[in-house]
Amino acid sequence: MTVSLKKAELHCHLEGAAPPLLALAQARKYGVETRDFLRDGAYVWRDFTSFLAAYDAVAGLFRTESDYTLLTETYLDELAAAGAVYSELFVSPDHGEAVGLGADAYIAGISRGIEAANARTGIECRMVVVGLRHKGPERVEWAARYAATCRNRLVTGFNMAGEERIGRVADYARAFDIARDAGLGITIHAGELCGASSVRDALDHVRPSRIGHGVRAIEDPALVARLADEGVVLEVCPGSNVALGVFPDLAAHPLRRLHEAGVRVTLNSDDPPFFHTSLQREYAVASEVMGFTGAELAAMTRTAIEAAFVDEATRVALL
Ligand code: ADE
Ligand code: ZN
Repeated sequence: MTVSLKKAELHCHLEGAAPPLLALAQARKYGVETRDFLRDGAYVWRDFTSFLAAYDAVAGLFRTESDYTLLTETYLDELAAAGAVYSELFVSPDHGEAVGLGADAYIAGISRGIEAANARTGIECRMVVVGLRHKGPERVEWAARYAATCRNRLVTGFNMAGEERIGRVADYARAFDIARDAGLGITIHAGELCGASSVRDALDHVRPSRIGHGVRAIEDPALVARLADEGVVLEVCPGSNVALGVFPDLAAHPLRRLHEAGVRVTLNSDDPPFFHTSLQREYAVASEVMGFTGAELAAMTRTAIEAAFVDEATRVALL
């Protein structure tokens, strides 16, 4: 897959994008032993629960505003070099709070990284604040209130990630109301670890314009038709899905079937080094394994830009 094909991504978790070498350098700086989650230059995890633990451990290696600036610039520079013009980063103020940095400094550090990468490469990036589902509805509402009031122009959306098998979507609806009322774009992880009913619940209770993953909607043809009818955009992450065992292999992945059913789909890397992928690899796999043509891949990039939580002037310039 050529670097020259224009790419855009809507679904990448910032700490999940930390290159292992950068995480190692951070660990040395802070005297942290990494054996439990990083060995032989690769992140180590067995299942979704240990993946989340490894994610938290990596996040714990970024402790200052400038650590977050460095992480953001490192990721965006590499993405721009792979032909990406736009990225939406999922950022979790909870992780900033966990290291004692605080949400404001966390967002400020990322913001500086976005601006520096934009000045150097032209890549546009916005932040989607993520509430962590396994922390419970009150904490997710805290994240939504933070996103609604933080007044950083690069924070443009709200999402809920984390352990999808905990709680009911309806219990988190108020957090999404807070974010929507503040004018933020709405997306939510669903249909990844849980089946089609989780996607239906997300549509009914949260009314998102996009869904993170959503791929297990394929288990219910009526739901696939509803997604297509309503024009909901799926942030599809094939490499992540296979790495986490959502589907046994890329040949079994439903991206093509969803596309053929008229669902608006995009390609995304999720937590690239954790899943041995990159946005460039996702495009390559879609082409070489799933048979998408260059025109179809270009259309997916266009769908991502159309569905981006970005101001109209920037969107038009990106298209
Ligand atoms: N946080 C980071 N990656 C995630 C994923 N794939 N699903 C849910 N929460 C996440
Ligand atoms: Zn995700």
